[in-house]
Amino acid sequence: MSQEFRLFPEAASSVAPEVDALHLFLVAIGTASALLIATALVVFGVRYRQRAGVRPNHAIHGSTRLEILWSVIPLAFSLTFFAWGAKLYMKIRTLPRDGMQVYVTGKQWMWRLQHPTGQREINTLHVPAGQNVILTMISEDVIHDFYVPAFRVKQDVLPGRYSTVWFRATKPGRYHLFCAEYCGTEHSRMIGEVVVTEPAEYQQWLSGAPAGQDPVTAGRALFEQLRCDTCHEPGPGQRGPLLGGVAGREQVLADGSVVVADDSYLRTSILEPGRHVVAGYEPLMPTYKGQVSEDDVLQLVAYLKSLPETMAPGEGSDR
Ligand code: CUA
Repeated sequence: MSQEFRLFPEAASSVAPEVDALHLFLVAIGTASALLIATALVVFGVRYRQRAGVRPNHAIHGSTRLEILWSVIPLAFSLTFFAWGAKLYMKIRTLPRDGMQVYVTGKQWMWRLQHPTGQREINTLHVPAGQNVILTMISEDVIHDFYVPAFRVKQDVLPGRYSTVWFRATKPGRYHLFCAEYCGTEHSRMIGEVVVTEPAEYQQWLSGAPAGQDPVTAGRALFEQLRCDTCHEPGPGQRGPLLGGVAGREQVLADGSVVVADDSYLRTSILEPGRHVVAGYEPLMPTYKGQVSEDDVLQLVAYLKSLPETMAPGEGSDR
């Protein structure tokens, strides 16, 4: 490993140069103000020091012009920090419309990752350069934090709720992956790496890794194995809403409220079905807590998201 001294980690994602630019701007303005204040302090201290024969009689009592000046200039800088930071934050937080969907499960003390084509990895993530990668993450126990300094992305991974983060790696290489939230004894060993390769090389890696089932196929198998289809498919046995096209759509609940069926909603509906009962249905569904792992739920969610809009008759809550 090369041990060259560097102040910044490598900038290897599409947003990294922008984060660095803002950071450098903040440091530059901070340094300039500090120098200005320190210089004025010394100069004034020397120039207006107490001397024999000079009476300190030049005190001024308020100067509107001066006060406006030293309020407006810092205000302009602060607002610039805010506007620039907010814009960049939105850019980093807004998921791109298309991207490679990778599922991440954090647990004490490892990262499990699954590619859209089914390949699984532990503590290592292979991704192609130049492509948007969207991570949907959840923890099986405590709060972890997915942090890749070279990409300038860092996102808490929470138990009980999905969080997402995206990046587009720009340079092939191997980059540190850290857990950035103290999560127990071996927190410091919850590390790994992101391996960025050219797209062709990534394809090659994919074909070399044991594929297993892709999340959608695995989700369908689970869906059938858990007999979800009994109640969620059209027919005499249907007791719950049909699920085609539900993902991402607004749902009207029994209490009249409206929620968007995002990933976390789907997960909650599997583990705590009583929480959001869709209008027009009875709260009959049993919980699947304890029967399915977080990995299983991710596969089920992937399957539900893959379902096309159903036009079957009897879909009561569709509007
Ligand atoms: Cu996981 Cu620290």
